[in-house]
Amino acid sequence: MSRTTVTMIMADVMMTEAAAPAPDAASEPKPESKWVKVWDPFVRIGHWLLLIAIATALITRGEPESIHQAAGYFVAGYVVFRLFWGIAGPEHARFENFLASPFAAFKYVADLVTGKGTRHLGHSPPGGLMVIALLMVMSLTAGTGMAMENHTPVPAAFQSVLQIEDRGRGDEDDSPWEDVHEVSANLLLGLVFLHIGGVALASIGHRENLVRAMVDGKKRAE
Ligand code: HEM
Ligand code: HEM
Repeated sequence: MSRTTVTMIMADVMMTEAAAPAPDAASEPKPESKWVKVWDPFVRIGHWLLLIAIATALITRGEPESIHQAAGYFVAGYVVFRLFWGIAGPEHARFENFLASPFAAFKYVADLVTGKGTRHLGHSPPGGLMVIALLMVMSLTAGTGMAMENHTPVPAAFQSVLQIEDRGRGDEDDSPWEDVHEVSANLLLGLVFLHIGGVALASIGHRENLVRAMVDGKKRAE
């Protein structure tokens, strides 16, 4: 990645942090100030790459091994990065700003279907809980995949550098983790459908295109 690209991404992340509408109530907002930057580039690019990786892992279902496992390792890497970004990232990426109680999530959905839903600039309460559920089930699926293979969680390319011996046996059919891997992959697929349904419901309820916001990062200020 060139230095210019890195500079542009960092500028975008910093703009996401600072992007609040000007608090000047007296003056009419300029057309461009009606939009705020909500999702930083790491969240956006990470989201669509994650979609590709999980789709690849679900379609390949174990074979060919190289593709299935590379996709699975990507998912594991995404989880590690997202945990770090949930603490060190910009405002709307941070867990403290979207962790909510199940009660708040239930109330949000009840209000949304009765037309009284409160709009959130970042994740809504059920959206925030869904992020946590997805991260947990993605870890379980990728982790059981690695355990089934009896691999270390370190990708092959780094094993020799770090002098780690991969104890892979390749007899995953005997592994007690096989069933857990299958069940958690199915659970992940179920959560993904629920997630897409939730995005559709919130998009209709608040009359805004949340998918486009996950592409360009911007949402209406009000
Ligand atoms: C394998 C499939 C998918 C997975 C694992 C997934 C996972 C996630 C995760 C983890 C987030 C939180 C982003 C963050 O804070 O870093 C998210 C947000 C989001 N995803 Fe997905 N996603 C998937 C598919 C999709 C699809 C197909 C769509 C569009 C139809 C979509 C639309 C969105 C939107 C709009 C948000 C932001 C929600 C909000 O405004 O609170 N996702 N997704
Ligand atoms: C989140 C990422 C992953 C998803 C969604 C996923 C999904 C799946 C699914 C749906 C199957 C078919 C299960 C069956 O019908 O028995 C499967 C099989 C398999 N997965 Fe994964 N997987 C992931 C990550 C991994 C990782 C990281 C590894 C290993 C490093 C792995 C290794 C395997 C193997 C070896 C099989 C074949 C098991 C058999 O022979 O029955 N997977 N995976």
